[in-house]
Amino acid sequence: MSEDKTIYRPSQEIVEAAHVPDYDALREEAAQDPPGFWAARAEELLDWYEPWERVLDDSDAPFFKWFTGGKTNVVLNALDRHQRTATRNKLALVWEGEDGTLKTYSYFALNREVCEFANVLRSMGVKKGDRVTIYMPRIPELLMAMLATAKIGAVHSVVYGGFSVEALGERIEDSESKVLITADGGYLRGKIVPLKEIADEALQRCGTVEHVVVIRRTGEPVHMEQDRDYYYDELMALPVARSAGDGSETEVMDAEDPLFLLYTSGTTGKPKAILHTHGGYQVGTATTLKYAFDLKPEDRWWCAADPGWITGHSYIVYGPLILGATSIMYEGAPTYPYPDRWWRIVERYGVTILYTAPTAIRGLMRFGDSWVKKRNTSTLRLLGSVGEPINPEAWRWYHEVVGKGECPIIDTWWQTETGAFMITPVPSFPLKPGSGTKPFPGVQAEVLDDEGNPVPPGEEGKLVITTPWPSMLRGIYKDPDRYIEQYWSTYEGKYLTGDSAKVDEDGYFWIIGRVDDVIKVSGYRLGTAEIESGLVSHEAVAEAAAIAIPDEIKGNVIHAHVILKAGSEGSPELVSELKAHVGHEVGPIAKPTHIEFVDALPKTRSGKIMRRLLKARAMGLPEGDTSTLEG
Ligand code: WTA
Repeated sequence: MSEDKTIYRPSQEIVEAAHVPDYDALREEAAQDPPGFWAARAEELLDWYEPWERVLDDSDAPFFKWFTGGKTNVVLNALDRHQRTATRNKLALVWEGEDGTLKTYSYFALNREVCEFANVLRSMGVKKGDRVTIYMPRIPELLMAMLATAKIGAVHSVVYGGFSVEALGERIEDSESKVLITADGGYLRGKIVPLKEIADEALQRCGTVEHVVVIRRTGEPVHMEQDRDYYYDELMALPVARSAGDGSETEVMDAEDPLFLLYTSGTTGKPKAILHTHGGYQVGTATTLKYAFDLKPEDRWWCAADPGWITGHSYIVYGPLILGATSIMYEGAPTYPYPDRWWRIVERYGVTILYTAPTAIRGLMRFGDSWVKKRNTSTLRLLGSVGEPINPEAWRWYHEVVGKGECPIIDTWWQTETGAFMITPVPSFPLKPGSGTKPFPGVQAEVLDDEGNPVPPGEEGKLVITTPWPSMLRGIYKDPDRYIEQYWSTYEGKYLTGDSAKVDEDGYFWIIGRVDDVIKVSGYRLGTAEIESGLVSHEAVAEAAAIAIPDEIKGNVIHAHVILKAGSEGSPELVSELKAHVGHEVGPIAKPTHIEFVDALPKTRSGKIMRRLLKARAMGLPEGDTSTLEG
């Protein structure tokens, strides 16, 4: 990656309009008393049923608690309070289907539908604390399902629609969900993704689900299991949905009660469920969105992620709704039917802020400037990036062609675990392409060497967060030991991010990439273990090792090494079959681009696969230190 030393300064107009005119001063002020900073934001931006007694309880670290004694529900702030102000008449959501369907919801309409959906879920026996799995295309009902679940105090677990049978089944089983909310299908690149069919197969492998709610998106006939599966529109027409009208009660929750589980890939083994709670998570998402993107009432905010990932949870669903913003949501692929689809959306709905991933930018950049230029994108005032480091070429194209050289690029570094932005600029701050600039106020980050000492400027080390923050994960569901081991055992009292980074002379942070067995493919977070278990579940495979190889558009692609069982022969047909198998079991996003048949895998004497060596070999690089290689 070539480095760009240019410093991009915002225009006077942007500085004057900025919510945070002097970022360094605010950061310094917050650093004096981070809990005090967050408490002030919790008062400024949110309503509470009852105020908290303690801002931060660190008596059982690293099991930190925030705003203890406070009573809230994310729905109180995302929907209920807006019904009492002019925001009730404002657009909450403008949705465009890939097929061109347009749907809009005011805060009033969104609330009504969420209330009715909540009534339906209650009538099915879903109670406070119960888990509900949501497996849906990018349609408004996905938001409603999340909000309805939260409203009644249940815990949602959204599984991204690009995951498949085994991934879905595993997540349903681990969360012990009673209810699954899904759809007959969704549209992607003009084709139907058969979500219900995948869900049916997943349900055969796990046994906790009692009811399935099916949203009709495509209208295609699907199998409906008697006394288990119900169509959403039919349920919503029942008197039970309307029983309480739009006055359906929002459950009063403790600040520390669970809001959702979101499965994500870690260092080893199966994906783990990251737990977030009602109180601190709201404070983190609302504060970061307001400050980093200067969100104003006249904005039209478009976070182009999927609600199935943390970016969508925090910045499609909760953050924007809490702030009473108008969001744009689009169901399908950026290039369908032509590569100007996104720019048409910007033009058609007057988008002012676009937040997306470098992989999408690179993917669109490849079609050239003309697709952007023929659309009116002049409403854009800020651009955002997330998910992986953005290379300077993509940064400049985004800045110059999409943003006409006038829109600051807000490069936000954060994780499923952090719940909200951790390292990010604000619009008034000078930018360096490829750097997320500095930690957000109230966040303390360092880059350390293996001994735990801060590395000198410009040197690579491990990125850690040194003080707790309100939207931090509250643990891994059902696995407190793994929480401690994965995040808190490398450096005493410091949160290990799993990323390597550098800090330059000006204190700007530069993220380099993951240092564990997590792979970022097109910005999607996958574990090598997930891909490998997808491969070894095929009858011909004895052992597998997956690694990431750099790719110009996707950031990384998956390269899998496979040892076949005796009696199986490697062939191009088998390569295709294995790719299809991983697609069916784990999901299309986990399909390896390359599969190489090998007789052995390099391992350490303790039996660990040496992925570093596999990567060096695959890329034709020097093998480095091989002294731990088994003899
Ligand atoms: C990477 C996504 C560089 C990083 C919100 C992190 C980034 C992982 C950036 C978390 C960024 C995220 N620059 N790298 N702006 N944002 N990452 O949990 O490796 O899906 O650890 O959360 O994405 O991925 P996750």
